[in-house]
Amino acid sequence: MDPIVVVNPTAIAAGGEVLSLLVLHGPNLNLLGVREVGIYGSVSLEQIDRALHQQAEVLGAKLEILQSNHEGVLVDAIHRAYHQHAGILINPGAYTHTSIALRDAIAAVGLPTVEVHLSNIYRREPFRQHSYIAAVAIGQITGFGAHSYLLGLQALVQHLRLQAA
Ligand code: DQA
Repeated sequence: MDPIVVVNPTAIAAGGEVLSLLVLHGPNLNLLGVREVGIYGSVSLEQIDRALHQQAEVLGAKLEILQSNHEGVLVDAIHRAYHQHAGILINPGAYTHTSIALRDAIAAVGLPTVEVHLSNIYRREPFRQHSYIAAVAIGQITGFGAHSYLLGLQALVQHLRLQAA
């Protein structure tokens, strides 16, 4: 049986090399803070990105962060990540439920990928309850608002550190 490792998040960074990671935000997430605040909260994408950079520093990682409303731009970024990054943190937005292209890109590069959502997609409309990305992700974090991103980053870094150990 796999051991359960209890970690102090700051200890995840200890001793390891600085990990380079790609963070992708899909369509409409540039409007966070003004968009359906009852569902997605009042935190802006800029605030999320700032928190992610701070969390990354604590975890011993550095981030390239990109938001796009265009599927092909996200696919291209995933392809580039193959040579540049150790893993991917992605909120695919509505492409979660439609994009075989994003799914195939993640499968093609084979980088450990964590899928995150602010809202709990399983408590929402039936069309949001299927993710094309989940099957190629190492895991999914959904429903914790902006905090989903920080939890996802922590999970990704810990996964990569344990893999390297
Ligand atoms: C979302 C959930 C998706 O269904 C939706 O299309 C989004 C945001 C989330 O973070 O909760 O744009 O990915």
